[in-house]
Amino acid sequence: MLEDAPDAFTITADSERGRPLSWWRERLVATCADPKRVALVAEIGDDAVGSALGVIDTWDRSLSHLYALWVSPQARRRGVAGALVDRVFEWARERGAATVELSVTVGNVAATKLYEGAGFCDTGDREPLRPGSPLKLMKMRAPL
Ligand SMILES: CC(C)(COP(=O)(O)OP(=O)(O)OC[C@H]1O[C@@H](n2cnc3c(N)ncnc32)[C@H](O)[C@@H]1OP(=O)(O)O)[C@@H](O)C(=O)NCCC(=O)NCCS
Repeated sequence: MLEDAPDAFTITADSERGRPLSWWRERLVATCADPKRVALVAEIGDDAVGSALGVIDTWDRSLSHLYALWVSPQARRRGVAGALVDRVFEWARERGAATVELSVTVGNVAATKLYEGAGFCDTGDREPLRPGSPLKLMKMRAPL
């Protein structure tokens, strides 16, 4: 996903490539054991075609976050991302959150349209995608 959409995520394929598979496994196991996090994989048949991460905020339990949304190019425009977003909403609501926030790169039309359709609005907050990057992240928020 980092190679496919390098401007959509704050981490890069180059920064992550050196990590062994065991590092990713341990991170996933820790995420699955954490009641404030949910890692989702979308499947079509036997193929994993998309991902999303939901997180309840550390300091504010009424706030949740959506990260790492990606759908493989062959599976796009079939409602996979919409289904992942819906599931994160449902999960966060079940945990008492009232709001979900995310950041999307300014100019990422596909993701921005998807988020607007799911009820997210631009908060007006901007920050660089990465230190020194000319690309900006737009913060969006939706009520649950
Ligand atoms: C953005 C992304 C997750 C959308 O995934 P998807 O499974 O194709 O999205 P869906 O099929 O659920 O689309 C839902 C709606 O989003 C909008 N949308 C999705 N892709 C779009 C595109 N290329 N252009 C315009 N609108 C788009 C549409 O409103 C669409 O509804 P419609 O198909 O009825 O018109 C996918 O393109 C992707 O992985 N991009 C690269 C990674 C990325 O940008 N992630 C977001 C990081 S913040």
